[in-house]
Amino acid sequence: MKHNGTLIKEDNNYKKKSKTLYIESYGCQMNFSDSEIVASILKKKGITTTKDISTADLVFVNTCSIREKAEQTVRKRLEFYNSIKRDQNPKMIVGVLGCMAERLKAKFLEEEKLVDIVVGPDAYRDLPNLIKEVEDGKKAVNVILSLEETYAEINPVRLGGNGVTAFVSITRGCDNMCSFCVVPFTRGRERSRNPQIIIKECKKLFDNGYREVTLLGQNVDSYLWFGGKAKKEFKNANQYEKNNKIVFSKLLELVAQINPLLRVRFSTSNPQDMGIDVIDTISKYNNICNYIHLPVQSGSNRILKLMNRGYTKEKYINLIDNIKRKIPDCAISMDMIIGFCSETNNDHDETLSLMEYVKYDFGYMFKYSERPNTPAARLKDDISDQIKQERLSEIIDKQQMHSLGHMKDKIGKTFEVLIEGISKKSSTNYYGRTTHNSTVIFEKDHHKIGEYVMVKINDCTSATLKGKVI
Ligand code: 5AD
Ligand code: SF4
Repeated sequence: MKHNGTLIKEDNNYKKKSKTLYIESYGCQMNFSDSEIVASILKKKGITTTKDISTADLVFVNTCSIREKAEQTVRKRLEFYNSIKRDQNPKMIVGVLGCMAERLKAKFLEEEKLVDIVVGPDAYRDLPNLIKEVEDGKKAVNVILSLEETYAEINPVRLGGNGVTAFVSITRGCDNMCSFCVVPFTRGRERSRNPQIIIKECKKLFDNGYREVTLLGQNVDSYLWFGGKAKKEFKNANQYEKNNKIVFSKLLELVAQINPLLRVRFSTSNPQDMGIDVIDTISKYNNICNYIHLPVQSGSNRILKLMNRGYTKEKYINLIDNIKRKIPDCAISMDMIIGFCSETNNDHDETLSLMEYVKYDFGYMFKYSERPNTPAARLKDDISDQIKQERLSEIIDKQQMHSLGHMKDKIGKTFEVLIEGISKKSSTNYYGRTTHNSTVIFEKDHHKIGEYVMVKINDCTSATLKGKVI
């Protein structure tokens, strides 16, 4: 109780000073979602967000470690903050949040003299205390990973959003241990968020005018909730199955049932965990978008094995065939890594042939980047940068051709589009997306952001559709 009393006193202190937070996010959607959780935790302490770095009391950067390049980007930002601190805002407190904080821990404080706070993805509730420590003249670190933390009841502050689309986090962490990936180390063990709270959050978003939610997790298909109990607490499998187990397809259905006008998306699926039940649920509900992001990483079985992906090319193709059979109009995208340890021309050809088979609608393609302490770091990163670059260019060209093909197929057809905002290029145009996640640009006319309109497509590039509301 006494402890609570102290906290309330701190509350008042924060309120009186009315501090401001400037927060930038890098990396995946989960990081952007986490920044909204951070903003919510600090808002309760009277700290509000600002877009003006030169006057902010707190400057936080939510970081990504997925590739070396992502880390370099953050280091450049830290240099920039340093210059602001030196020239304009000497009192600002700089915090490094997220995956890089988790990976480098206290080393950050030694390497980057300007950093005051280092906080990992599971320790955001501790931020008010960490800020206090810095104000008392110390440097503050909390990088403890948790087996339970899901920030379940925290209602995120929607940062810089359009008021129409929102991310809702459903799981945290990852247990898959792909050999190239730093995530299991930076985000810890996998855990699922209480479904009732997820539904409540989505309902509230809908009531506040939002028309699309994206359910987020490193591996959404392994979402699992059984009243907060561990599987081993059940005496037998039957009892466990009966105990109101909620799997991802069920959660997806519950969210889709909130309102037919609420679009539902999700990311990311893992081919080794995505079940036929998820595909069936997508095909059953009109408001679950016909778009699946299904990272494959390689088309070579030998490389998939080295990557510890838990599926073969044949199993992946079977999944794709099932998707195309059950949801004929489904857009599919992928992540691909080229130049993984020991990748031969032959392996690369297998990747090209898989791309040719699937003809993805979109693709996110990367050169392999060795991450310290991952299982793959024990293998030799033996593909030269030149070969990596050549292979990357080749798959990017192929993907662009496929993307353009899919876009061209849409010309002359009409699609339902959710209006998300005013086009960056022209203030007389809106942008929105089709169910397939294709961006469409069209004239505003009398329509409003957040409305659904039917748009007939008359032109395209490999990335954008253009059309007219009918
Ligand atoms: N090097 C290159 N790309 C990576 N990814 C994950 N780890 C690495 C790495 N070490 C890619 C994968 C993943 C996406 C989010 O980032 O394709 O799906
Ligand atoms: Fe980057 Fe992965 Fe962390 Fe997301 S989870 S921020 S992609 S390292």
